[in-house]
Amino acid sequence: MKKSCIFYFSSDTKNTEKLLLNATNNLVVDLIDVKGVKEYRVSDYENIGFASGIYDDRVDASIEKLISEIDFTNKKPFFIYTCCFEDVDYHEHLLECFSKRNLSKVPYIKILGDDLEGNATGHPDKEDFLRLENFLIETLGE
Ligand SMILES: Cc1cc2nc3c(=O)[nH]c(=O)nc-3n(C[C@H](O)[C@H](O)[C@H](O)COP(=O)(O)O)c2cc1C
Repeated sequence: MKKSCIFYFSSDTKNTEKLLLNATNNLVVDLIDVKGVKEYRVSDYENIGFASGIYDDRVDASIEKLISEIDFTNKKPFFIYTCCFEDVDYHEHLLECFSKRNLSKVPYIKILGDDLEGNATGHPDKEDFLRLENFLIETLGE
């Protein structure tokens, strides 16, 4: 498998982090918490993922900033987002961010994550972990 990393942001509910930790148990993927990152080096990686919860319709700004900065030459980006509303999609804005970098057809997956107000209770669950694992196997293996 090609060398892969995922930059992620996860707030206090830690859904995105929990999801990533569980889904990558059997995979070789470096998980990089953007909160702890001052400098980053992506030259080692061929697959570069981004993951975040959705906060007021957007991923965390730190993720958007990385997408605007990273040199994606010969890299394959992808993204994962967790949110609490099943019937609302949030990928369009991120696809636009990638499009500004001349990147199209960026693979992504949406996974539910509960909030503190009773939405998406119980998520992410075992099935969500498996869905993400399968997405990663497919995306990283290509
Ligand atoms: C301040 C705040 C705003 C949120 N806004 C949205 C939203 O606009 N749409 C949505 O579906 N979920 C929203 N959520 C729910 C989170 O996206 C969801 O719980 C996600 O799994 C959080 O990921 P995390 O625990 O990794 O931070 C919001 C949560 C918070 C705390």
